[in-house]
Amino acid sequence: MSEVEVGPLEELPPGAMKLVEAGLVTIGVYNCGGRLLAIEDRCSHDDGPLCEGDWDAEACMVVCPRHGSRFDLESGIPMSLPAFQAVPTYPVSIREDGLVVVEVPD
Ligand code: FES
Repeated sequence: MSEVEVGPLEELPPGAMKLVEAGLVTIGVYNCGGRLLAIEDRCSHDDGPLCEGDWDAEACMVVCPRHGSRFDLESGIPMSLPAFQAVPTYPVSIREDGLVVVEVPD
């Protein structure tokens, strides 16, 4: 696993989302009511730019902008069609120096 820096926690308050690049993968990092959650920015249905879609900060769901599937941000599991496969999610933590980091496989 490698750590990818997202930024200081102050820059990711509740209701905010930030995109980070992790090699060939783009990841959306969300502050969902204080829970930090990360999901790949690629829809499992047709590779739509998932994190460009609206998201529901109360339900912790993101809506694919292409065909409207809703995904649980914690599990990556789609809650509505047409997507039926999960999108990868990643552990997020706050380092001792206050930086938010995402763990991604090497
Ligand atoms: S590309 Fe996301 S629902 Fe189709």
